[in-house]
Amino acid sequence: MANFRRFRPDDLNKFSKCNLDPLTETYELSFYMQYYAKWPSLFQVAEDQDGNIIGYIMGKLESSPAYYKFSEHYLPWHAHITAVTVAPEARRLGIGKLLTEQLEAAGDAAEAWFVDLYVRKTNHKAIAFYKSMGYSVFRVVEAYYGDHSTDPTQVSEDAYDMRKPLKRDVKREHIRDDGENHKVLPTDVW
Ligand SMILES: CC(C)(COP(=O)(O)OP(=O)(O)OC[C@H]1O[C@@H](n2cnc3c(N)ncnc32)[C@H](O)[C@@H]1OP(=O)(O)O)[C@@H](O)C(=O)NCCC(=O)NCCS
Repeated sequence: MANFRRFRPDDLNKFSKCNLDPLTETYELSFYMQYYAKWPSLFQVAEDQDGNIIGYIMGKLESSPAYYKFSEHYLPWHAHITAVTVAPEARRLGIGKLLTEQLEAAGDAAEAWFVDLYVRKTNHKAIAFYKSMGYSVFRVVEAYYGDHSTDPTQVSEDAYDMRKPLKRDVKREHIRDDGENHKVLPTDVW
């Protein structure tokens, strides 16, 4: 049984069940605190009956700077998933789905057009997870990751930039059917 609530700073002491996972990034402490200070409703945790953090999602709300308005890569107001992770022993119980739905609800409340995220092209489990929730590939960001999670002979790995339209995008204008064919460079994305 998991309890879902907003992140609190002392939760950082209890992230290890999640962050020992190699596909979960561990950031500087100040990075987590920035998200907490700016977008508390998009930073949610799942805790078990002993108070261990067994999952969390961390996100933000943003748009590209106004001076990019006429760029083809301009991003309108949207919610972004910076991290979502569930401890290995708590997977396939619906925790990741519930956390993501909470972030989507916060995005809808803020009138965001869509939710987006980056995921390694070889992270097949996470891609299956996102697809099951209605996300699709919007574009491929080449060599986005400066390492390779599954092939040590490669120095970098592409990312899928995946999106799910929110309620505001009634006409589904912010997604594409053939996103795998749209390749961009890391310098094109902000
Ligand atoms: C991706 C992750 C967050 C999913 O969390 P989760 O709590 O296990 O996911 P859920 O139980 O909510 O799964 C919802 C649905 O997603 C799909 N899904 C989830 N994990 C899957 C897997 N390993 N393989 C295939 N489909 C999967 C299924 O359709 C699942 O529904 P079902 O269990 O009824 O079949 C978790 O695997 C994780 O923490 N991975 C490591 C960190 C990571 O890769 N994060 C994403 C970085 S971008």
